[in-house]
Amino acid sequence: MDYQNLLINVKDKIAVVTINRPDKLNALNSKTMSELKEAFTELNTNNEVYVIILTGSGEKAFVAGADISELNKLNMISGKEFAEKGQDVFNTIENLNKPVIAAVNGFALGGGCEIALACHIRLASENAKFGQPEVNLGIIPGYGGTQRLTRLINSGRAMEYIFTGDMIDANEAFRIGLVNHVYPLNELLNKAVEIAKKITYKGQVAIKQSIKAINAANEMSSKEGQNYEASLFAICCGTEDFKEGTSAFLDKRKPNFKNR
Ligand code: COA
Repeated sequence: MDYQNLLINVKDKIAVVTINRPDKLNALNSKTMSELKEAFTELNTNNEVYVIILTGSGEKAFVAGADISELNKLNMISGKEFAEKGQDVFNTIENLNKPVIAAVNGFALGGGCEIALACHIRLASENAKFGQPEVNLGIIPGYGGTQRLTRLINSGRAMEYIFTGDMIDANEAFRIGLVNHVYPLNELLNKAVEIAKKITYKGQVAIKQSIKAINAANEMSSKEGQNYEASLFAICCGTEDFKEGTSAFLDKRKPNFKNR
């Protein structure tokens, strides 16, 4: 599939999706958003892909936000549609049945921070900067940022970053748990591939159930979440992978998962 604003490279079960509008710091215009929806929907059912890495083109930006030239035209009616459409794209990413790793290689502002928040794992380069500067434009984050940021880093910090629009650097993002690791820019993608590769060797049915169970923690009470966890655990117990994984341990050999 050819995209205007995305590059997709699949190798060894890992897809690298690169948002490719470097002259606009990879800002998310509507074309890019619809391409992201299409690409992630396709990757979700692509048997050649187990893990996806999302990054930005160039050395300056991951994604510098929604495209402000499009934002500028919104009104109260189109604004709601705009936010809901964007939320749907990011929900698709969050609910994918395979892991998505954000390799944040520079500015992750506004919608750029929000798309990273929708990914399952976040890694940053040393030059990365995170922020929700929407108040500078007279709006609030509309692609799920008020919800996901609050859940991830707590409401006090989310309030401060959203009220001030201040950017934080990669080390601060690491300190507050917004990213899992910080690497030199030239190592970022290799490190993301290293983590992705590790995941490709596991039973993919179990990985899929893990995503569902962990995502449920944001939606359900602990009791409901544990009921759901038990059902997903039971699904795993009915798989060939479960037989293979447990037998391999007992036989003192490496498992050979068939992902069934
Ligand atoms: N939407 C549309 N265009 C954007 C953009 C965005 N969110 N962010 C950057 N660009 C464009 C600039 O307009 C500029 O285009 P031009 O060369 O045609 O004029 C180009 O990308 C380079 O950006 P520039 O501002 O010149 O780079 P900089 O290094 O001086 O500043 C930023 C970098 C990220 C600090 C600055 O671009 C910025 O503040 N961007 C907007 C961030 C934002 O508010 N995002 C939230 C939107 S909800």
